Amino acid sequence: MKFFIDTADVAEIRELNDTGLVDGVTTNPSLIMKSGRDIIDVTKEICGIVKGPVSAEVTATDYEGMMKEAKVLAKIAKNICIKLPLTMDGLKACKALTDKGHQTNVTLCFSANQALLAAKAGATYVSPFIGRLDDQGLDGMELIEEIRTIFDNYDFKTQILAASIRTVNHVKEAALIGADVITAPPATLKALVKHPLTDKGLSDFLADWAKTGQKISK
Ligand code: E4P
Repeated sequence: MKFFIDTADVAEIRELNDTGLVDGVTTNPSLIMKSGRDIIDVTKEICGIVKGPVSAEVTATDYEGMMKEAKVLAKIAKNICIKLPLTMDGLKACKALTDKGHQTNVTLCFSANQALLAAKAGATYVSPFIGRLDDQGLDGMELIEEIRTIFDNYDFKTQILAASIRTVNHVKEAALIGADVITAPPATLKALVKHPLTDKGLSDFLADWAKTGQKISK
């Protein structure tokens, strides 16, 4: 399973990328707004830090506008993945961009049928939003299961990018179902390493080690 970070915060990206556990980055207009930076500048900086795909989202809602914006975004760096909304125009742009050899991420997916369309449009990734479905009292993880089954039934190559991840349990459940990628905020990714028994075990070992008076490296 690949791990993408869902942020446009360069300091956070740098810190997590140094762990070697990061496979890519996803951004969206809200995250760019939160960064307070120019979309081109910040995206270029992110593409320089992370080797894997960096999703940059178009903001036009019509096909022509999306294609124009995609051209600008694609010029930022080789690892740009063009993020498009799950609308008819977005799917049309996805097909055209995929045919031209670009990586594409079809976002704002809330149903299995929408995911099926994204796969038929040749998307590299489709992003079902788990947390936002849970917020509505629905089961986001059920959607991941449905998409996994459909994609496996027809051997679609589009990767399931479980998005709107809010908890460490979301990560575990998405992994159990077989999502190809998760994208999560830095805090959620950092929380994956935490376990109270790890902390306690480590502090017990260190206390006993101190009693030996030994040092491994002199
Ligand atoms: C995905 O690509 C989106 O940027 C993101 O996961 C949305 O998450 P949110 O619902 O927490 O805003």
